[in-house]
Amino acid sequence: GVKAKIAPSMLSSDFANLASEAQRMLDCGADWLHMDIMDGHFVPNLTIGAPVIESLRKHTKAYLDCHLMVTDPLAYVDPLGKAGASGFTFHVEVSKENWQELVQNIKLKGMRPGVALKPGTPIEDVFPLVESDNPVEMVLVMTVEPGFGGQKFMPEMMNKVRALREKYPSLDIEVDGGLGPSTIDAAASAGANCIVAGSSVFGAAEPGQVISLMRKSVEE
Ligand code: DX5
Ligand code: ZN
Repeated sequence: GVKAKIAPSMLSSDFANLASEAQRMLDCGADWLHMDIMDGHFVPNLTIGAPVIESLRKHTKAYLDCHLMVTDPLAYVDPLGKAGASGFTFHVEVSKENWQELVQNIKLKGMRPGVALKPGTPIEDVFPLVESDNPVEMVLVMTVEPGFGGQKFMPEMMNKVRALREKYPSLDIEVDGGLGPSTIDAAASAGANCIVAGSSVFGAAEPGQVISLMRKSVEE
């Protein structure tokens, strides 16, 4: 099967102590750090951008899994590439016209391209991006409406994960929103292998236990 990647969402961390929060998650066994980039337009919230990624990069070699909840992802490719982002996942809803150009530029800047979809977007919309000659390397299935941490997991989204896993046995499939000990089994059995979790990890007394429990669920 595909390898588990557990990605704490730094949106739930103490932003004033980002470097130490990142190191704490890595010490707890995190594979990736999930970085939620929002523009206050694609979603009704504003978070971080390339300057913060650049600052964090000076403190860690970790894989920075950037999730672009922005209306114009192409404008972020150069700055994020320079800042040291690792993954660049854009939304399919805003890239109907230019996803091929986006994927090409993301790879040119040394990042790994992924595509995300909102709960209301049909899974078929991402098939061409996975099947292209120059494909995305991950699909992020949103399991809440993007914008905020701490929302309730939408189990209906597991139909999308199952459809992807049936078609693409080795694809990285990420789920994001409401993941934690009570929802991980649904996501893992549907076929998700990259698990984003914010409030369940940062809210735990022992984040390392939550991370290893989720890893176990994906790998068994
Ligand atoms: C929501 C973000 C998520 C969020 C997840 O728009 O994309 O990454 O931080 O937080 P939890 O795990 O608390 O739902
Ligand atoms: Zn996210």
